[in-house]
Amino acid sequence: MKSLTFGSTSLAILLILACFVGCAKQQPLTLKDAFQDHFVVGTALGGNQINGDDPQAIALTIEQFNTITAENAMKFGPIHPEPETYRFDISDRFVEFGEEHNMFIAGHVLVWHSQTSRWIFKDENGDDVNRETLLARMQDHISTVVGRYKGRVHGWDVLNEALNEDGSLRQSKWLQIIGEDYMQKAFEFAHQADPKAELYYNDYNLFHEKKRQGTVRLVKQLLDNGVKVDGIGMQGHWGLDYPSLEQAEASIIAFAELGVKVMITELDINVLPDPAKWRGADISMNVEAQNAINPYKDGLPDSVQQQLTDRYAELFSLFLKHSDVISRVTFWGTHDGHSWKNNWPVRGRTNYPLLFDRAYKPKPAYFAVLDLVN
Ligand code: GLA
Repeated sequence: MKSLTFGSTSLAILLILACFVGCAKQQPLTLKDAFQDHFVVGTALGGNQINGDDPQAIALTIEQFNTITAENAMKFGPIHPEPETYRFDISDRFVEFGEEHNMFIAGHVLVWHSQTSRWIFKDENGDDVNRETLLARMQDHISTVVGRYKGRVHGWDVLNEALNEDGSLRQSKWLQIIGEDYMQKAFEFAHQADPKAELYYNDYNLFHEKKRQGTVRLVKQLLDNGVKVDGIGMQGHWGLDYPSLEQAEASIIAFAELGVKVMITELDINVLPDPAKWRGADISMNVEAQNAINPYKDGLPDSVQQQLTDRYAELFSLFLKHSDVISRVTFWGTHDGHSWKNNWPVRGRTNYPLLFDRAYKPKPAYFAVLDLVN
């Protein structure tokens, strides 16, 4: 009896030890679990995905991410194509999907110079409307869209890309017609429509010093005027060799010092060469140029895969270092097969910017990122 008791105890201890060693070796299973103590991790969903045409991407989204952004469905053009027409079918489905899976739902985007229906700026003669008319239309748009999802969309990109590269204000139609306070008004209208929603400024290349300073000026002025701004989204359309970690970090710190949340939005890492070099060559005819700008159509060489892996690892190390101020990291797409980077700045290339490949399989970069929290 005695030896049996001793035997069971030893066995139990052995089992616990074995599990301890085994469990310690296991990867956290998903991105959202791995980073749950640090920030939410998300993806952008395209209209075809929201509509169910890419079920594997949806399965991956449910498995890996706890926040979603609509890639296009909530932009002004798609959602409000004509003065009396709002199209909410895709955005409704998007919000329902996020709710069903308890996700943080990010709204993108209310006021932007691009993908915005031109009618909003014009009267019936095709001339620019006046300030009052445009403000009234802006308010109608914001209160209708934000109001529809009140309490359901948790944060809105109120203002996108209002700055030039040198940090000055972009001469958008919004600025030209309304004046500088169009930005403050946009935030105020959004706040009125859903007082509890978080409100963000979102832009690209915010790692450049001048644009960083411009962003700090802009957001500080809004805050000084008593406007509710909850966060700054740094679009992460980055490359293998830019921005430097120092540049990205300087912006994270500068924005956090304003007392707002910092988000890495629209993250994807371009691995393809800059086609600008071949501008002027007849790219459609010139095979050499074609191959040079689209070098990995048959697969990514191991050396570049490794660079991508290292790049993602160093970026996520930086995000972890500043996870006290970073609230969200959102990829601009779920898998390489669905990324705008395959078609920009030239169409029809094969790019590899995300953590999941065209077969929906995790890439080495995915495991490197998870390893950081192991
Ligand atoms: C900007 C916008 C995004 C998207 C990308 C490119 O970053 O904020 O919505 O359009 O350009 O697709």
